[in-house]
Amino acid sequence: MRLARLTVRGFRNLADTDLGLPPEGLALLGRNGQGKTSLLEAIAYPVLFRSFRTARDGELATFGGTGFHAGLGFERGGSARQVAVTFRILGRRKQLELDGVPATRVVEAAGAWLGVVFAPEDVRLASGPAAGRRLYLDRTLSLADRGYLTALSRYRAALAQRNAALRQGRGDLAQAFDRPLADAGATVVAGRLAWVARQAEPFARALVALGEQGGEPALAYDGDMELAEPGAWGPRLEQARARDLGRGVTTVGPHRDDLVLRLDGHLLRDYGSTGQVRSAAIALKLLELETLEAATGEAPALLLDDVFAELDAERQRRLATRLFGTGRRSQVFITAPRPDELPEGLALPRWQVEAGRVVAQD
Ligand SMILES: Nc1ncnc2c1ncn2[C@@H]1O[C@H](COP(=O)(O)OP(=O)(O)O)[C@@H](O)[C@H]1O
Ligand SMILES: [Mg+2]
Repeated sequence: MRLARLTVRGFRNLADTDLGLPPEGLALLGRNGQGKTSLLEAIAYPVLFRSFRTARDGELATFGGTGFHAGLGFERGGSARQVAVTFRILGRRKQLELDGVPATRVVEAAGAWLGVVFAPEDVRLASGPAAGRRLYLDRTLSLADRGYLTALSRYRAALAQRNAALRQGRGDLAQAFDRPLADAGATVVAGRLAWVARQAEPFARALVALGEQGGEPALAYDGDMELAEPGAWGPRLEQARARDLGRGVTTVGPHRDDLVLRLDGHLLRDYGSTGQVRSAAIALKLLELETLEAATGEAPALLLDDVFAELDAERQRRLATRLFGTGRRSQVFITAPRPDELPEGLALPRWQVEAGRVVAQD
């Protein structure tokens, strides 16, 4: 998987541009506030048509602008591919295109282009609220398994409609969505459970590889596991019906679950050291990368936003080994304020980002 061309229009502070990109990737250098992260954001957006920084697409449009466009030309499995998105603030319209053909739904165009982002905010995967970990699970599994993506989008639609009915106090109408909710929701729960069971070992190994020697790491799913069976939903929804109606929201289902990280039985979020929490978050990102590689047979692009600057020298070395060591074939886009903050031995063309403009240096 190699990004060859990037077109951006009206995106954050970036000047409108068409860039040809080297197959090995780039180091993007520049002072704070120049547009390095925005460039990675434009490259990552068309993976799932969602920013890694915000859920509000309107924020990506240049201040005062009417919307944004991002177009990627890339090579995948020997073919030249294209994906593009145009967002208009007016009416919040998002138009997608895959290989020059309009796509009506995200499901059709998602995951054609693959990249995995490592950013300082990822630390919240380990230290922050459950919603971030659910999003992480949903992104990873959606890109690895089209059936999951389809089920998730049906689940979200059924949930939204069911909640709207509950808010209006329409119990009968809400009940009409029980069945689609159960069918799609069971696939979501089953997908997450199977993934977590497979990743417990790799998670522990990744933490050790990153240098976290002390303590026994554990990865577990926190939720009603029986909901992996569609048949289990009926009684649960029945039991919760009065409560759901009272609160105007569905209180049963994977939209309330969590991915739990522990060290020696203690929640990392509550008891982990800063270093442990950061390593656990990076370990999750490594699992995402390996999951996508295993599922697609492709090496997703690596989009590394200032991550190395946050780590001590030993952790930098260990992460670099995992990301760029032997056998890795990923194209790499990495940002840093200065060249001496790049990991050692990473030979990439260095481009400068200044006031939203990208300039090749050598
Ligand atoms: N929608 C937007 N329109 C214009 N400028 C923006 C928008 N969103 C953020 N910015 C500005 O873009 C600049 C570049 O941000 P960023 O890409 O995060 O820089 P860097 O990663 O190089 O530190 C910042 O100064 C920020 O204030
Ligand atoms: Mg930045």
